[in-house]
Amino acid sequence: MEKLIRKNILNVSPYIAGKPIEETKRQYGLKQVIKLASNENPLGASPKALAAIKKNLSGINRYPDSSGFYLRKRIAKSLGLEHSNIVLGNGSDELIDVIIKTFVEDDENIITADITFLEYEIISKVLGRRVITVPLRYFKYDLESIKRKIDKKTKLIFISNPNNPTGTYVTKYEIEDLLQCLPEDVLLVLDEAYDTFIDVDDFPKGLKYINNKNVLVLKTFSKAYGLAGLRIGYAVAGAKFASYMERVRQPFNVNLLAQAAATAALDDKKFLKRTRKLILKEKNYLYDELSKLGIAYVPSVANFILLDVACDCVGLFKEMLKFGVIVRDMQQYGLKNFIRVTIGTRKENEKFIKVLKIVL
Ligand SMILES: Cc1ncc(COP(=O)(O)O)c(C=O)c1O
Repeated sequence: MEKLIRKNILNVSPYIAGKPIEETKRQYGLKQVIKLASNENPLGASPKALAAIKKNLSGINRYPDSSGFYLRKRIAKSLGLEHSNIVLGNGSDELIDVIIKTFVEDDENIITADITFLEYEIISKVLGRRVITVPLRYFKYDLESIKRKIDKKTKLIFISNPNNPTGTYVTKYEIEDLLQCLPEDVLLVLDEAYDTFIDVDDFPKGLKYINNKNVLVLKTFSKAYGLAGLRIGYAVAGAKFASYMERVRQPFNVNLLAQAAATAALDDKKFLKRTRKLILKEKNYLYDELSKLGIAYVPSVANFILLDVACDCVGLFKEMLKFGVIVRDMQQYGLKNFIRVTIGTRKENEKFIKVLKIVL
């Protein structure tokens, strides 16, 4: 049987997603479950996006606009760019796949960190591309070591900025230094899934580089806009790069409701502001509570925090499930004593701390 499977696939460990709320309720016979496992928006979805979905529901007998014209135009306007700079994806996950298929030959390699968003490595392996993973340094991407790993076969570097699961970031000085040394035939992908939550001055805005450097930027509506279930993200790239990616993506990769919702969400400044304010405030609440408990954490510029629980993370994760709290154990990332918790509402965060105290 295994003879029928492509060799690359035999070596791929599947992505383990955050445990769903309904499944946890069923398994543990619980009525109330909170999920702080997938860096979703605890305030729900953008109300403007929800209204747009209702308005467009009756249109789903038709295929979506394959070119995503209105959404790309609206995104471009919000970024001060052209719609030819935008490529839409079924979540930014899909765009990782599209980028590799568009730019990386079979015998070329991809560099990323050893502890970062798992999909870079999984998708690369599925597509049969070699991945070089560079250890983090103090929980941060180590750009000096990444530079040393670039060889003749390197085509692409993925940087999650901020990094999932550590919440750390590389500064604009570090990125500019890397760009100076980057060979002309190497692309840098800056994945900015969590950029809305940034509250530091030296964070690099990837968009600044897309028209004069080999830089692609990934963004998503899954986090700040609360549209994770719709699957919609986008890449921002030089128009020429974007046009080749357009050849690779599926023609109807972004569904009709996602296009309508995302277009409306971009007008929902109020929701975005409320989300950002909540995350920044609740991050401080969690920092305080964790410090009181003597639990070490990695300071984060995103909407999640990596905690050193100083015990087996899988055991702790399972114990927390019994109390209706879903977090993410970091076993798959090789951090056996760590969990990642998404910042929730005050009520959710209080419950998380209460349960953590019980199970530790
Ligand atoms: C760094 C990073 N990039 C991309 C994604 C995927 O987001 P999307 O929902 O747009 O596929 C995630 C999701 O957790 C992420 O953490």
